[in-house]
Amino acid sequence: MCKVAFLGLGVMGYPMAGHLVAAGHEVSVWNRTTAVTTRWGAEYDGTACGTVEDAVAGADFVMMCVGRDADVLDVAGRAVPAMRSGAVLVDHTTASDGCAKEVGALCAAAGLGFVDAPISGGEAGAVNGQLTVMCGGDSKHFDAAKPVIDAYAKAVKRMGPVGAGQLTKMVNQICIAGLLQGLSEAVNFAQAAGLDMDDVVDAIGKGAAQSWQMDNRASTMAKGEYDFGFAVDWMRKDLGIVLETAKTLGLDMPVTELVDGYYADVQDMGGERWDTSSLLARLKSAG
Ligand SMILES: NC(=O)c1ccc[n+]([C@@H]2O[C@H](COP(=O)([O-])OP(=O)(O)OC[C@H]3O[C@@H](n4cnc5c(N)ncnc54)[C@H](OP(=O)(O)O)[C@@H]3O)[C@@H](O)[C@H]2O)c1
Repeated sequence: MCKVAFLGLGVMGYPMAGHLVAAGHEVSVWNRTTAVTTRWGAEYDGTACGTVEDAVAGADFVMMCVGRDADVLDVAGRAVPAMRSGAVLVDHTTASDGCAKEVGALCAAAGLGFVDAPISGGEAGAVNGQLTVMCGGDSKHFDAAKPVIDAYAKAVKRMGPVGAGQLTKMVNQICIAGLLQGLSEAVNFAQAAGLDMDDVVDAIGKGAAQSWQMDNRASTMAKGEYDFGFAVDWMRKDLGIVLETAKTLGLDMPVTELVDGYYADVQDMGGERWDTSSLLARLKSAG
């Protein structure tokens, strides 16, 4: 068992850090908003710290899950100088591959390992310890970190050097964006045609149309429930990274670009924190 620090106790990080305790690690945590750190400390048998430096001191592994590139650079910039030589920093934030390379270089210069390790599986995946984790980094650092990541994951895979995890997460988000617009049109169509959506999923959900989104979202979409899950603001952040990266690769992304614009419409409707399945609300509001 190891000494592990976790920085960033949001929707994802809070339960992930809890799974590290359950796996038997010695865990210390830090969150920017102190009340959350205190709440976590009261719920789990770990150490709630008031500063990044206190949390990471002496840790073998430092895991983090914050918001976007600027947040990663800020938090990593404080963690790295305080980490012990030879420790490994693992970043679970969805960020750009450029950001991963910048933090990787910072770690290498400080004698630390780095693995970019974005996650998929949503809040339920984090709560149930069933995340999919796509990693970039040296094999040596990945092999060391994998048994720790296993505490909250059902699948952990090394995709290549630093940055490859983030590139894989971009592929994941491209798949989801187009799929969710298709599913929204399908639910809208089914309802307009007078079908019961739960019956429809029962009938077609084990065939070629099946998807995680259909299994986990079709029913709530049919009820117009969006106040949970993966926030539209985060999806726009992710699609922004995808579209920027596609530009550097010289690629056209017509559907991803279209859906990104639709998410901008959802934000304008006040849906910044709605689940990404709220593309259906946009369709319905357009009449
Ligand atoms: N939610 C999902 O279903 C899901 C799924 C896959 C991937 N992700 C990705 O995972 C990351 C976290 O998502 P989340 O849903 O857990 O977000 P969240 O609930 O909004 O939590 C964000 C966390 O990051 C912290 N944070 C943000 N900026 C910071 C800064 N500059 N300095 C220090 N701490 C900072 C926040 O601290 P405060 O408490 O102080 O605000 C909070 O602990 C994002 O990159 C997201 O895209 C999310």
